[in-house]
Amino acid sequence: MGAGQLRLRLATGGICGSDLHLFDGFMPTMEAGDIIGHEPMGEVVEVGSAVKNLKRGDRVVVPFTIACGSCYFCEKTLFSLCDNSNPNKEIAEKAMGHSPSGLLGFSHMLGGFSGGQAEYLRVPYADVGPLKIESSLPDEKVLFLSDIFPTGYMAAENCDIEKGDTVAVWGCGPVAQFAIQSAWMLGAGRVIAIDRVPERLAMAEKYGRAETINFDEVDVYETLQEMTRGRGPDRCIDAVGCEAHGSGSFDAVVDKVKAAVMLTTDRAHVLREAIMCCRKGGTISVPGVYVGYPDKLPFGAFMNKGLTMKAGQTHMQRYMKPLLEKIEEGKIDPSFVITHRIKLEEAPEAYKTFRDKKDGCIKVVIKP
Ligand SMILES: NC(=O)c1ccc[n+]([C@@H]2O[C@H](COP(=O)([O-])OP(=O)(O)OC[C@H]3O[C@@H](n4cnc5c(N)ncnc54)[C@H](O)[C@@H]3O)[C@@H](O)[C@H]2O)c1
Ligand SMILES: [Zn+2]
Ligand SMILES: [Zn+2]
Repeated sequence: MGAGQLRLRLATGGICGSDLHLFDGFMPTMEAGDIIGHEPMGEVVEVGSAVKNLKRGDRVVVPFTIACGSCYFCEKTLFSLCDNSNPNKEIAEKAMGHSPSGLLGFSHMLGGFSGGQAEYLRVPYADVGPLKIESSLPDEKVLFLSDIFPTGYMAAENCDIEKGDTVAVWGCGPVAQFAIQSAWMLGAGRVIAIDRVPERLAMAEKYGRAETINFDEVDVYETLQEMTRGRGPDRCIDAVGCEAHGSGSFDAVVDKVKAAVMLTTDRAHVLREAIMCCRKGGTISVPGVYVGYPDKLPFGAFMNKGLTMKAGQTHMQRYMKPLLEKIEEGKIDPSFVITHRIKLEEAPEAYKTFRDKKDGCIKVVIKP
């Protein structure tokens, strides 16, 4: 084992919407036998000789962003842009101009690191990523510090919410649920959530105190304008990403055909809709993952309406500690999103249940 690494025995791990992009074949540079999974926590069973902050027996949550902690980008707390943690950066540079950080269990282009849907996990840069949980909080309350709670929080922070703003959130999946919670924490006056899956909309209403729109039943643009007296929501969050569905709208049908024959990796219906719906001078935040070259983006609208857009894989290490404090203070219990608890052997079936939104499935946790 490398000097800066640790080995973890997995206790709990999540399946994420990002895993679906891998499962559905939209992320290039995946190979047979790759181990995925990037929401792990468990017990440290071995540490490398250079690891100072952790020891055998510690209970830790591991972030999916791998970061060295000391490069130009890490110094700026832009951990998901770390310059040193992606050993395959040349591939990413060809695709994107520059390489983001390595990510756990997320394709060879982003490092080829084995992920955490397994019994054991090797974690690089062990002093920079994993967060030690000292309190007796149960795993299920802290597990989502590995990804979706910080991701929802950064999504809301990236909106630059001003007090009283109306925030529209596309999607009511797990990331969206935390974006909704975080929008309130950051001063929103109103949150409107959009999806078509009844139990997900219900969760946004019940736990997120959101008003909701079912995109299968009404026109999203018309409804949002009506709800905001023609001005549009001040801040828009795309918590759907590259596998958006549309209700028969022309652009969504074209996306679907192109994706089916692998002419595109990105069905960008939500991003287009957010640009059209957002109020002039507003902000669009994109935690939803895109892969390649989404097309037909209304860039003229984006420019002429004076919009701002912020995006990115989450700078996990920036948020884990402060959000753990919120959990410890009882301000939020992230376990509200969990609907399914399974054994590792049941994961293949659970992936389908989660993707197809069967059986009321919103968030799966694996207990190996
Ligand atoms: N930026 C990051 O660091 C980061 C981290 C985690 C996840 N993600 C990404 O966030 C996105 C959401 O993740 P998740 O786990 O919540 O996934 P999910 O697949 O459970 O949720 C997506 C939701 O979007 C809904 N949806 C589909 N089309 C829609 C439309 N046209 N309008 C409104 N809603 C629509 C679906 O019904 C579903 O409920 C994914 O793209 C995932 O890859 C990003
Ligand atoms: Zn994820
Ligand atoms: Zn770095």
